[in-house]
Order: sequence, then C-alpha cells, then structure tokens
Amino acid sequence: MDRIRIVGGSPLNGSIPISGAKNAALPLMIASLLTPETVILENVPRLSDVRQLMRILGNHGVDASIDGKRAGQADDAGETVRFSARTIVDTTAPYELVSRMRASFWVIAPLLARMGEARVSLPGGCAIGTRPVDLLLQALESLGAKIDIDAGYAVARAPSGGLRGGEVAFPKVTVGGTHTALMAATLAHGTTVIENAAREPEVVDLAQCLIGMGARIEGAGSSRIVVQGVTSLGGVRHPVLPDRIETGTYAMAVAMTGGDVLLRNARPELLQAALDVLAQTGAEVTSTNEGVRVRRNGGGIAPVDVTTEPFPGFPTDLQAQFMALMTRADGTSRIRETIFENRFMHVQELARLGARIRLDGDLAIVEGAPVLKGAPVMATDLRASVSLVIAALAAEGETMVHRVYHLDRGFEALEKKLVRCGAEVERISG
Ligand code: EPZ
Repeated sequence: MDRIRIVGGSPLNGSIPISGAKNAALPLMIASLLTPETVILENVPRLSDVRQLMRILGNHGVDASIDGKRAGQADDAGETVRFSARTIVDTTAPYELVSRMRASFWVIAPLLARMGEARVSLPGGCAIGTRPVDLLLQALESLGAKIDIDAGYAVARAPSGGLRGGEVAFPKVTVGGTHTALMAATLAHGTTVIENAAREPEVVDLAQCLIGMGARIEGAGSSRIVVQGVTSLGGVRHPVLPDRIETGTYAMAVAMTGGDVLLRNARPELLQAALDVLAQTGAEVTSTNEGVRVRRNGGGIAPVDVTTEPFPGFPTDLQAQFMALMTRADGTSRIRETIFENRFMHVQELARLGARIRLDGDLAIVEGAPVLKGAPVMATDLRASVSLVIAALAAEGETMVHRVYHLDRGFEALEKKLVRCGAEVERISG
C-alpha cells in the first residue's frame, strides 16, 4: 500500500490547476444510462472513484472510452470520456461493486426509468455515518415504483406503463436523493415536483447535462425543481464543473502554510461560504479572471467558528480540512458538524501531530497550538486523509500518511500539485 511522506514547514507558492469535480462527474456518468446515445464528458478527473464507476457502468453494458490527448492540450487538463449505453445488458448492480462506492447506488434511478426495473445492492454504512438510502427509495416510490428489500438488494419495479410524475418532498436535504429523483423524473410520464431539493452546484451541473440531453427541468439550484417527463433522451457533450472541495482544500493548505497560490479554473461562487470563513481567519482571498488567489504572508491564523450546512452553507466536505487549519489558530474555535453523525474520525489522527481537540457530540472544540510535530498517521476517509496532509504541511519534521488510497479516490495528482508549489511531499509505493 502506498504512503505519502511529507516534511512540513515550506510555504506554498505558485499555481494549482483545479480538476473537474468528483461529485459532479459521478452522477453525470450515471446519467449516461438514461440514453442509447453517446454522452461525452469533458474535464473528467483521473480518480480511482471514476475508474471504479466505469467498471460498474460497464457491468450494465456502458461502453466507456477515453479520448486521446489533443495536440496543444495542457498536461493537467482533465480527460474527455465517451459513455455509450446503447444496450443495457444487466439491471443488477452487485454487492461486490456497489459496496466499494456509495454513489454507485444512484444507478437505480436511470435503470428503473429506462428499463422499468433495477436490482441494486444496498450500500451499507461507511466511516462517516450510517448514510441510509431510505429517502432515495421514497423518492422513487413517489414516482410509482414498487420497491422490496430482498437479500441485501433494493429491488425496484416501475408500473407497467413506466414511472409516473409525482410529488417528491424531502424531509431533509439530500444530494443523492435529489440526483436520484431528477434522473428518474426525466423519463417519467407527466410532471414531477421536487420540494426541499439540494441546491448544491453538482445538482445544477447534473440538471444542465440532462437538459442538454433533452430533459425539461426548471428550478435546479433552488429548493423546488420541476421536471416535465419526456419519452427519450439523447446524447450530449458536457464539461464537468471545477471541484469546489479541491479548491477549498488547497485554499486552506495555503492559509495553513502561508504563501501565495493561484487556484486556476476555480469558481469562487461555488464555495463562497468557505472562502468568506477563510478570509476571516486572516488569509487574503481574491477572485481573478483565471480563478481564485489565496495569500497569507505573515500574521497569525484567527480562530473562526463554523457549522456545516447544505449549500450554500459551509460544506461538510471541507470540515476536516478547516479543522486542520484551526489546530494552528491563535485561540479556540468551535466546529459543528450537522450533516453526518460520525465525521470526526480525523480528530484522533490530528492529535498525533499535537492538535488539541475536544469532542462534545456534534461539536469539536479546537484549541490552536503554536506548533504541530510530524508523526505517522492514518485516515479512514477521503476528506479526513487530506486534512492530515494539510496539518503535515505545517508540522515540524516528517509525517507519513498511510492508506493513501483514500486520497486517490478524490484528489487528482495531489503530490504533484503540492510539489510544484514548493512543498516537500513524496509518494512511497508498496
Ligand atoms: C454527497 O453524498 C456527497 N457524495 C458527499 O461527499 C457529501 O458529503 C454529501 O453529499 C453532503 O454534501 C457525492 O456526491 C458522491 P446526502 P450523499 O444524501 O448524497 C442523510 C465526499 O467526501 N440521508 O446529501 O450520500 C445522510 O445520512 C462525500 O466526497 C438520509 O437520512 O449525501 C446525511 O446525514 C462524502 N437518508 C444527509 O442525509 C437518505 O436516503 C445528507 O446526505 C439519504 C441521505
């Protein structure tokens, strides 16, 4: 298993290209199941989650091919991938595939909408909480699906004439639930209204891609989305939006180490709440026509209290990284996690580096420490792992981050991007 060795203490200076968003790419890829025509996605990040989803889609009959690099194309440009689901050969998504990546459960919606049936393994719990799928299944039932749980699988059937438009009212905001309802509703007969829909940029990206495929959707980006079902969808060429979580992660790394970095292609409006918090900590954040520039030259890190919320609030996917930053603040900050019940697994690992954090239910009280010291650490999920990288970049001496496969799921070329900005980071294979 690969490890990453980091020697802390160097400021970050230079420019980092922001990749396409993992959490946008995954539902866009899944949407290719809705049409027999070709869906071409541009700016797809090179990530193990993307490769794994290609395998899962392949099992249903999707042919995925990666375009060769074009002349003059930048080295760090994402890939262009063609997805062609001419024939669906299997409507079952087996345990062995789904259990490795939660988002793959979302295939249930396009399979059901296009084929009238789907049998998808329940994804089960994961390190950050129980993460049930009850709201996703209720949304499909609101469109007329009949769903049974059988031997660990959700077995869904559409009525004989296909899914019917209906009212989907989510009792809490769910990104996956909104993706699922949107995809299913595009091919249902009649009108679907999704109330309390997630407003995340990745939902808007999915809606725009579906509209490009011929879907009739209004209101994506608001809490009320209206979908008029159509009989079929066609192909599209669609660019994946830039990754707001990767943007926020590197922004926090710069605030932590000090320095001056341009986050190229980043779109500030996708993470305004996080950038505002970062500015309150004392970092200088400016939008340029190339992206977002983050600077901190001298001066301390001011403590700031944060509560995670659905978009446009402070994202749960940046909570661990922000906590890493607060471990070096000049004072105490309070970080409340309201989205997932168990997303503090990084706390004990940050403590190995000398962080002083107390947990009280959904609240972490972080007392800034003047120095962190390198140590061996290990993480349990993607965002937790990268919070350790951020802490290590500012720690004295060497940190060895184990279980790097978590990072590879969601951060394209992490070491390369950091090394180019002056960090001492190396991957040790095996
Ligand atoms: C998406 O997960 C993201 N994953 C997560 O990012 C992100 O943290 C999360 O949205 C919140 O922003 C992808 O996009 C692939 P939810 P999702 O449904 O859709 C509860 C990362 O690190 N809930 O919005 O699974 C759920 O337990 C990942 O990239 C139910 O109770 O999240 C949670 O408390 C981690 N029943 C809350 O809703 C359901 O049926 C929000 O979850 C569904 C969800």
